[in-house]
Amino acid sequence: MVGVFGCVLKDGNAAPVIHEALKRLEHRGYDSVGAATIHEGVVYFKKDQGKIDDVYARYGLGSLPGRIGLGHLRWATHGAPLQVNAHPHLDCGDKVAVAQNGIIENYAEIRKELEEAGHVFKSKTDAEVVPHLIEQKIKKGVRFEDALRETLNRLEGSFSVGVMSVDDPKRIFFAQKENTLTIGVGEDAMYCSSDIPTFLPMTNEIVAVESGEVAILDHSKFEIRKFADWSEVSRKPKKIDWVPEIAEKEGYPHFMLKEIHVQPSTLKSTIRLQEEYLDLMTTFLDRAKELFLVACGTSYHACLAASYMFSKMASLSTHPVYASEFIEQVGKSVNIDSTILALSQSGETADTLAAVDYARNRAATILGLTNVVGSTLTRVSRAYIVQQAGPEIGVAATKTFTAQLSVLAQLALKLAEKRGKLSHVEMEHSKEKLKQIPEIAEKVIKTEESIVRSIAKKYRDRPYFIFLGRGISSAVAYEGRLKLMETNYLPSMADAAAEMDPGLISLMRPGSPVVFICPRDETRRNIVEDIKRAKGEGASIISIIEEGDEEIKALSDDYIQVVKELPEFLCPIQFIIPLQLFAYYMAVERGLDPDKPRHLTKAVTVK
Ligand code: F6R
Repeated sequence: MVGVFGCVLKDGNAAPVIHEALKRLEHRGYDSVGAATIHEGVVYFKKDQGKIDDVYARYGLGSLPGRIGLGHLRWATHGAPLQVNAHPHLDCGDKVAVAQNGIIENYAEIRKELEEAGHVFKSKTDAEVVPHLIEQKIKKGVRFEDALRETLNRLEGSFSVGVMSVDDPKRIFFAQKENTLTIGVGEDAMYCSSDIPTFLPMTNEIVAVESGEVAILDHSKFEIRKFADWSEVSRKPKKIDWVPEIAEKEGYPHFMLKEIHVQPSTLKSTIRLQEEYLDLMTTFLDRAKELFLVACGTSYHACLAASYMFSKMASLSTHPVYASEFIEQVGKSVNIDSTILALSQSGETADTLAAVDYARNRAATILGLTNVVGSTLTRVSRAYIVQQAGPEIGVAATKTFTAQLSVLAQLALKLAEKRGKLSHVEMEHSKEKLKQIPEIAEKVIKTEESIVRSIAKKYRDRPYFIFLGRGISSAVAYEGRLKLMETNYLPSMADAAAEMDPGLISLMRPGSPVVFICPRDETRRNIVEDIKRAKGEGASIISIIEEGDEEIKALSDDYIQVVKELPEFLCPIQFIIPLQLFAYYMAVERGLDPDKPRHLTKAVTVK
């Protein structure tokens, strides 16, 4: 993940162009860098872990010869951030070079087959199967272009991949499936990349490559073919007028909004978790005599939601604890029978690591859930899962929160299956709904964004906000409050709704905005009463309801609708999205920059 780029030039060397292109993605965060070129029938390549400029200087990457080349910035998904796992990857004969973004789901089975056929793999990545599979087909007498076509048709998952071969040394091939890829049409040069900013200073004439298509480029022209039948697709370039800063945000004014919008696609990646990881993790969870869910901030809210999922679906009771309080609150009781599931998108939050360290010293079992392969959390965990959300740039966590929720939902479901806690029908229904989660997220964003924006406009001058929910939705209320507070510096409070009396009700005045999270689950009857109670104080009710919930609509001043009849364990994913949008649009309406909240950094690595 992170970025793949390739170019074919009429004159000059590709290597420095690749260097500059990768530098334009540098601020996103990555762990390794690599590039390959072809010159006089030879593939030249260098790669390593580290910063772009360091790796370029260490290996003289900028002076690789040749007019055609591929570059890659890696954010590890399979295999640790080590030199061998950096891209590009080559076949056994060093004739085919490949760089890839995304995930090839069926790589394990392809790799096994190729190893049995004698191929030697150097890395632990999914990407390395691509050059070897092409090589295997060429060995059997298939010409390169057909070998590539057959290979692309064999791959499952969501990926964009750049391929070049000494057998076709003047052209470069870029394909994508359920991912993103764009051609840049230059003067005497063609570019292709997962990210438009890589080539924007060279050209603003672009052509999108759609899912299931391959772009074939030489220095003067491009063609696009469907990889199912190699039929040609005709598509004209269009001009974009993005300045580099907007291009980096793919046309969105802020990273926060972009990251809210990419959630359907990150959810697609996270629900594709390999069974073996879920299996291993749930084996530990199943055995846990005592399970602490430990994290800070947004990750802690994911722990709260998980405590409901694990208990209700798999009869596993857990203790969610703030990492910063862990040692004081429960430290002395932690022992060899304790299991800690630590959540940290960065994998580097100081309080979380301190809690983990303390528990390890008391012989507890440590499990991790993080977004960063190779982070400290992955190194100290007995088993861990990477949530596959890609790097998050906005300081306010958005896509990494829904990714955490989706992994936790899958763990709860798997554990319920292991423990035989759900009927066959419930299990099948839950799995089906889990598959639909990316579409559901997309629908919520599409239908509700403008409504959320108008609500933000209406309430932008209110001095404080209250968020309430019951059951698993209390976690959503806490997270909605945190989003608003950190991006808007507005006093905001949240609680489990039953706790409002006595408590937050004392702050409700005529016109005080109170946001209620209202799924139609077992808590609904009570939440209706809570709303009436708040209404009685004159509060302005903003509710997030399931489509067509007429009763709550009638009680609300404003409402936002999400999809109906989603099982409870998946509800937080769809209910938090309008609240992320609300925090974002409130900031915009109030003239604040949601990407640069005061006093906050992305990872709190000091205590
Ligand atoms: C909120 C936010 C922070 C983090 C917290 C934990 O939007 O970003 O509250 O959630 O600092 O960070 P991780 O998950 O990296 O441990």
